[in-house]
This record gives sequence, structure tokens and C-alpha cells, in this order.
Amino acid sequence: MKKSLETPFLTETIAALMVTPSRQLKLGARILRLLLKSDPSILDRVKFNENVNYWWVTIHSSSLGEIVLCFWLPKSWSERHDHYHCWNITIVLLGKLIARLYHVSGSKFFTFKKAEVGEMGVTTTPSWQIHSLANPFERLSVSIHFYAFGRPEPILFVED
Ligand SMILES: [Fe+2]
Repeated sequence: MKKSLETPFLTETIAALMVTPSRQLKLGARILRLLLKSDPSILDRVKFNENVNYWWVTIHSSSLGEIVLCFWLPKSWSERHDHYHCWNITIVLLGKLIARLYHVSGSKFFTFKKAEVGEMGVTTTPSWQIHSLANPFERLSVSIHFYAFGRPEPILFVED
């Protein structure tokens, strides 16, 4: 696994979160800890995919949609991808992310919306929208993603 050297950063940051007194945690960190305590298998199931460049785990999946937790190491990002029919809402629980929405003209991508999303900040991705998320910062970022009607393929395929 290419990112194995960086895994201790992820596990140590989460381990510190689990023993921090609640009163010292912001709301997003408290929610994350609640999720991790309610299902200890979450951390065992977190996986890294080189194609998408971040750690993620599905915490709910049904015909109505999916809920995914994403763990963004410093300097990590998602590739640009289309959401096709899937509408998404993302809430940053820890750290912050940069969210970009793109227009496509010919073979070029243009950023038409770029926003820094902080803790408990919300960003949405409409269906049929190409977007990307990135953590260019020095802290771990964790986000929770709600996908209506199933998570889209996180790789961009160009179709006629
Ligand atoms: Fe997405």
C-alpha cells in the first residue's frame, strides 16, 4: 500500500481524538468520535485507493443512498469526478477542505466555484456536476458524505 508510511499519522490523530475530554472538542470532532465509538469496526474497514488518493469507509448503504466517511491526509485530494445522477451533501467534521466545482469547455476544465469548508461547514454537489475536494493543509481532515441514490464512481470517465 503506497501510503503505508503515512498511516501512523492517521491512526495516531484518531487515537488522540478518542482520549481527548469532550469539553475540549468542537462539535465536528465530537460527532466523529461518537460515530467511531458506535461502530469500532469503522477504523478497521477504512481503505486507501491510490486512484482517489484518500482514505474512506462506507458507514451506511441502502437503496436510498450511501453515507461515507473520508479521511484526508495533509496534501491529499480527490480527482475531478462527475456526480452523474447522484446528489451529495458533505459536512467537514475535522480540519478543513477546499471544494471546487468545474465547468467543462471543449477538453478543458474551468473552476467556477472554489470554497474553503471548515469544521461543521457544509458543501453540496449537484447531480451532473464535476467537482473535486482537497486538503492542502497540514492537519488531518475528516468529512462525512451523504449520497442520494448511491455513491458515484470517484474517477472521471469521459463519455459521448
Ligand atoms: Fe464527489
